[in-house]
Amino acid sequence: MQSSRRNFLKNLAASTAAVATGSHAFASESNSIRFDLSRNIIGANNNLNIALIGAGGMGVQDTITALSTPGIKLVAACDLYDGRLKDAKDKWGKDLFTTRSYKEILSRKDVDAVIVATPDHWHQQISIDAMKAGKHVYCEKPMVHSIAEGPAVIQAQKETGKIFQVGSQGVSSLGNEKAKQLLKDGAIGQLNYAEGFWARHSPVGAWQYPIPADASPATVDWDTYISNTTKRPFDKLRFFRWRNYLDYGTGMSGDLFVHLFSSLHFITDSLGPKKVYSSGGLRYWKDGREVPDVLLGTFDYPQTQVHPAFNLSLRCNFVDGTSGTTYLKLVGSEGSMDITWDDVVLKRNKTITSDDPFFIEQMKKAGTPVTDRKRILPPEDIRFEAEKGYKGGPYDHFVNFFTAIRNGGKVFEDAIFGYRAAAPALLCIDSYNNETAISWNPETLQLVKK
Ligand SMILES: NC(=O)c1ccc[n+]([C@@H]2O[C@H](COP(=O)([O-])OP(=O)(O)OC[C@H]3O[C@@H](n4cnc5c(N)ncnc54)[C@H](O)[C@@H]3O)[C@@H](O)[C@H]2O)c1
Repeated sequence: MQSSRRNFLKNLAASTAAVATGSHAFASESNSIRFDLSRNIIGANNNLNIALIGAGGMGVQDTITALSTPGIKLVAACDLYDGRLKDAKDKWGKDLFTTRSYKEILSRKDVDAVIVATPDHWHQQISIDAMKAGKHVYCEKPMVHSIAEGPAVIQAQKETGKIFQVGSQGVSSLGNEKAKQLLKDGAIGQLNYAEGFWARHSPVGAWQYPIPADASPATVDWDTYISNTTKRPFDKLRFFRWRNYLDYGTGMSGDLFVHLFSSLHFITDSLGPKKVYSSGGLRYWKDGREVPDVLLGTFDYPQTQVHPAFNLSLRCNFVDGTSGTTYLKLVGSEGSMDITWDDVVLKRNKTITSDDPFFIEQMKKAGTPVTDRKRILPPEDIRFEAEKGYKGGPYDHFVNFFTAIRNGGKVFEDAIFGYRAAAPALLCIDSYNNETAISWNPETLQLVKK
């Protein structure tokens, strides 16, 4: 701790001097291996063919990002709604192979990797089938739809040796990497608390997506859509606004909290919380949805070899008049950090009162005399910002995925990491529904019976 704090103070001094001389030391100081990957893509000449399964909002976005990295070609797309397949051909060319059946994609020899961007209730099965068919998988978050589904994905990854990466792209961002380094260097002292929140107030933000005019049993493969869940007659709301229904979606926690768990676990190297409690309510968007539109979660993280015990508070509000704010904040004994994918704002305690007995004791132990002489203070807020032109976390996340495939390497957000982030998010649903706290063992990845 002492030496990491010294590191931080040394870096801080260097950076402050650089700011004074107008140099860009903050941006270039990132000293992370994964940062280098976004600049220097290893094996980019080795072309890879990808296919998209689930060609909706995120699938299209993921594919655009994947194709913006060198050496990637899209050869096929799959969706259960014909309109999305037509859109895919319009976007990527009439020669693109399209199908309603993901198994047809998996049986193609020319596909190296698939992006799985279906609603959550299909992630597990398609990912496992894809790995068993010899494909590498980029699976959107949350990795699974229920905690019971996680171990099979981990096992499939182990058995097949395929690269499997979950799509919480923040973990590959410069902002998250910088926060990880700052925490390690002691910039905020001893971590004791973290918080994050998502605030929105719009129909689309609250999952009321537009429904295509031609949506019908003829244009939608409804039978396949519900083949692994409750049987019901065709319902376009349940297909196009799937996040509102628990047979397909995972509520606010599975959709949004999971990103914050991923970033937090990456930054702190934590395995996850031991206790989960969630509460909230349906306050405004009473459109037949089965999930709350205001959700709070509190999480107790136990001490591990790499971090002290700390508490986490997350919240999500779809009726927030102030709207639009998302952040992850880490608070420690000597400061705090507000973290996004592109920047970190570090706030340090201005001063420690010299009559604090704990402080006096610590100074004595360190052999430093306590005097009333005023000191030069470092800046109160320090903003570490990504360099202009930074391509962003989503780009870096795909680069990390493709680099691991090309080099036979590893990705950070693999199946175990993905499960560790998904599990507390999914347990929020049970905690909310059963009005009870849930105990979880983040090491063995099992529920703890009381
Ligand atoms: N990482 C992120 O920032 C981020 C952002 C948004 C969404 N997501 C995730 O991406 C996934 C998709 O979300 P979305 O907003 O794009 O939803 P969407 O409804 O826009 O797209 C989902 C698509 O999957 C298709 N589909 C459904 N079942 C299928 C199946 N069995 N086989 C093939 N296609 C199927 C649907 O027809 C639809 O076109 C979700 O898991 C979501 O959590 C991640």
